[in-house]
Amino acid sequence: MRTASALLVALLALLGVAAVARADIPVHCLYDQIVGTWRFDMGANNGDNSLVCNDDTFNPVKSLHLRFAEPNIVYNSSGIQVADWTMIYDEGISVRMMDGAKFTQLFFAFFPYTVDPISGNVTSFCNETVLSTYHDAPYGSGQLPLGWGCFKGYKASYFTEQEAANTVSPVTTYAPKPQAASPDAIFHADHEYIARLNAAQNLWTAGPNPALVGRPMREVQAMAGRKLKTSVEAHLPPAKLRTAAKASADAFAAYPAELNWRNVSGIDYVGPMRDQLSCGSCYAFSGTEMLQARIRVKSQNKLTPLLSPQRVVSCSAYSQGCDGGFEYLVSKFGQDYGFVDESCFPYQSGLIPEVPCSAGCALPRLYTVDDFNYVGGYYGNCSELGMIDHLVNYGPLSVSFLVLDSFMTYRSGVYTCDTTPGTVGFNPFETVSHAVLLIGYGVDPTTNTKYWRVANSWGRHSTDYGGDFLIRRGTDECAIESAASWATPSLNI
Ligand SMILES: *[C@@H]1O[C@H](CO)[C@@H](O)[C@H](O)[C@H]1NC(C)=O
Ligand SMILES: *[C@@H]1O[C@H](CO)[C@@H](O)[C@H](O)[C@H]1NC(C)=O
Ligand SMILES: *[C@@H]1O[C@H](CO)[C@@H](O)[C@H](O)[C@H]1NC(C)=O
Ligand SMILES: *[C@@H]1O[C@H](CO)[C@@H](O)[C@H](O)[C@H]1NC(C)=O
Ligand SMILES: *[C@@H]1O[C@H](CO)[C@@H](O)[C@H](O)[C@H]1NC(C)=O
Repeated sequence: MRTASALLVALLALLGVAAVARADIPVHCLYDQIVGTWRFDMGANNGDNSLVCNDDTFNPVKSLHLRFAEPNIVYNSSGIQVADWTMIYDEGISVRMMDGAKFTQLFFAFFPYTVDPISGNVTSFCNETVLSTYHDAPYGSGQLPLGWGCFKGYKASYFTEQEAANTVSPVTTYAPKPQAASPDAIFHADHEYIARLNAAQNLWTAGPNPALVGRPMREVQAMAGRKLKTSVEAHLPPAKLRTAAKASADAFAAYPAELNWRNVSGIDYVGPMRDQLSCGSCYAFSGTEMLQARIRVKSQNKLTPLLSPQRVVSCSAYSQGCDGGFEYLVSKFGQDYGFVDESCFPYQSGLIPEVPCSAGCALPRLYTVDDFNYVGGYYGNCSELGMIDHLVNYGPLSVSFLVLDSFMTYRSGVYTCDTTPGTVGFNPFETVSHAVLLIGYGVDPTTNTKYWRVANSWGRHSTDYGGDFLIRRGTDECAIESAASWATPSLNI
């Protein structure tokens, strides 16, 4: 499989057929730029999920005046909570209007940006959203949401007292990060680096990784996740002050000491290891594998579908195909459009340059999502205990982390990143690049180190390293505890 794909890529390169890349979203907006007051202009909501919004046809019929407050509360101008909200990393915002405890309408939008054609500098406009869709919350389990309309958000001063205090610039410009390695260079095992890593610690073992060695950097970079946007993003330690207090030992005592969803009394609730090939589709694997594992858990393994990541890569406007995306938005796609079986839309990205959405089967069985969110209720409130609680009670979670060079050499043991988190106000943003599937946790008996058990998507065979890995738990290694997300499958069993 691998050889065939490498050959095909080499052939295409020879023929000068560049992989058509839909642009990654380089926008970079932070939490403190978003808190404050917003106006949402809304078009009529009589569409369905085929609705596509464009500036020519957008015709607002009403406006909502909202104030986004800490940590995740949205007030209307009478000061009544009418919604909750979360950042989607540094790229967008999700708002759920509510009537009491019931969600009524769901909004999601990315922030706009421009790229200077000469310098390549990216300017993010964090005081607006791009024209996007909103729709009713699903009426019942397994039903696709109805009542679709278009909306656009504008940050503005409707509640002048609060606004006056906010002096953060809504617009940020940064220079693009220079490309590190030539995309054609071949990834090789750096034995001197591997020896240094092994000499520096005894928790994990570094070595040449057969899933990566010999591949062109272009493919290795796609597998490591999305490109980092800024040199700032790449080098600053994560700045965070968790709102959640550190959980007490007693709180952990309520949960089992270890769990591995790949083997619960001999039963596998995770499913096969997969290979994303040379496409930055880790998020689509993580998001669909999370739901398919939770279908197994919820149905006690009576239902074991293999869900198609290709449908997400090819069809979702909430992500960027082979250029990356976010697991939270994969779950949103599952709620709004539904996932399909792998047999309906087999994975082909990385083998052929562009797989159109129309390549999926015509009348698929849909697997939908009833509910989804970040662990902790919003981006920035994730915690080790919250992750364990979800893992034990509902099944695997989607998590993402920053792939460092050292991870490219991981072979066994409990991986560590050795980064030090900072503490500068409430800023949930922590750099991540690669999405994976959290399937368990435990404690290494020899070193007494707590770990997470994680499934990667770098290979089908456990002999390649690409499969499961362990990473230190409780210390937010490479931001792996910053943005865990969950989804619940629609299932009437
Ligand atoms: C704010 O929401 C409350 C509760 O839904 C409602 O009674 C009130 O009229 C709203 N205020 C405005 C200005 O829309
Ligand atoms: C956002 O900020 C930019 C630059 O300051 C400004 O040109 C634009 O009008 C602002 N948008 C809104 C909705 O205020
Ligand atoms: C691009 O951004 C860099 C760093 O922010 C700045 O030094 C440079 O002047 C910018 N160039 C242009 C053309 O805006
Ligand atoms: C599952 O776990 C049990 C006991 O923990 C072990 O004996 C068995 O070999 C495991 N099965 C697999 C397939 O790893
Ligand atoms: C944030 O996390 C804490 C600790 O896990 C939890 O008690 C709290 O309910 C969470 N906040 C929201 C809005 O869910």
